[in-house]
Amino acid sequence: MARVEIQSLCKTFRGPGKRTVRAVDGLSLSVEDGELLVLVGPSGCGKTTTLRLLAGLEAADTGSISIAGQPVNHVPAKDRDIAMVFQNQALYPHLSVYENMAFGLKVRKHPLPEIDSRVREAAEMLGLSACLSSRPTELSGGQRQRVAVGRAIVRRPRVFLLDEPLSHLDPQMRQQMRAEISRLHSRLGATMLYVTHDQVEAMTLGHRIAVMNEGRIRQAAPPLEIYRRPVDRFVAGFIGSPPMNFFLGTLIDRAGQLCFQADSNPRPPGHPSLVLRIPVAAASGLRGMAGRELLLGIRPENIAGAHNPPPASPACTIEARTELIQSAGHETFVYFLSGRLPFVARFPGSDGLTPGAKVSLVFDMSAAHFFDASTERALL
Ligand SMILES: Nc1ncnc2c1ncn2[C@@H]1O[C@H](COP(=O)(O)OP(=O)(O)O)[C@@H](O)[C@H]1O
Ligand SMILES: [Mg+2]
Repeated sequence: MARVEIQSLCKTFRGPGKRTVRAVDGLSLSVEDGELLVLVGPSGCGKTTTLRLLAGLEAADTGSISIAGQPVNHVPAKDRDIAMVFQNQALYPHLSVYENMAFGLKVRKHPLPEIDSRVREAAEMLGLSACLSSRPTELSGGQRQRVAVGRAIVRRPRVFLLDEPLSHLDPQMRQQMRAEISRLHSRLGATMLYVTHDQVEAMTLGHRIAVMNEGRIRQAAPPLEIYRRPVDRFVAGFIGSPPMNFFLGTLIDRAGQLCFQADSNPRPPGHPSLVLRIPVAAASGLRGMAGRELLLGIRPENIAGAHNPPPASPACTIEARTELIQSAGHETFVYFLSGRLPFVARFPGSDGLTPGAKVSLVFDMSAAHFFDASTERALL
């Protein structure tokens, strides 16, 4: 197995109308030996291109890629010892599951007994032993995707690249396959780079997550660190569902107490603007910034009904009106308006709220995030 190191990687394509598309734009990232790293980002941010550059299916414009300390920029794809599972992996329809898995090894002229033992071992790991003689058309979507993974496993590569391998499966199957991929990773101890656009998948699967946007890595860290300490507004808004609420506003000093005053432009007549007290711990980091415009971010779970305030937190009560209620049974997402400011809260259970109701809410300001209004970088 091997460590993968990518430095300042760039790749541009000619887009429509001779426009250049910067698919990968100065990307640096390392995947440790034996690590399962999840690369997550919105569609079109350059994830597939990054994997294709690693696999040697595309040539980089600039930047370097090394595997186990060896630069591979000029090593052909077949000699990189990398196996890639694609998003729309096509199996050979006329070959059996066994033959599909054995194919790559046969091409590489491995001895037949060795091919046989590797295919049977992989089939056993993936729960495919009973369908080795089936054709792909006789399998479910989940089984076909397992065969695709099996084809990669039998090669025993130094590095696995998985490009949204579960995106075509139904949610239940995805959940199950995600757990299987985790188990498989522990069993193989392999270096894996797993790509997804699904932030829930990223949170639950990765040892570390690398959040990507516009061809670059914004933050690479363990899932909970990304969740608790996002480095910028993009990461803060991308990870978490429903996403973090953002308010543009100004820091003001009210008799020695630092507060955040949200812009509500134009402010509805007779409605006070949203003013939130900033707790002492955060205030020390923001001191000297009074008068400055910034973005406040607060996750839906850090907003509670005033009748049920989070204990011992520096609370801030505001008035709002319910707009829309979405109950998932075990939790409820409630969309509110305070004046003209929209935001969403997540409540446990199925709270007895009705649309149009006026309620008092508590913002847990100890869990608030602050971002520079122009650079959108985290301030604390
Ligand atoms: N072969 C290509 N020719 C032109 N543009 C491409 C090509 N491959 C990818 N792109 C463009 O590069 C950007 C990144 O694509 P991709 O790496 O597939 O993103 P992702 O996998 O994150 O959805 C997109 O804007 C896409 O249209
Ligand atoms: Mg892609």
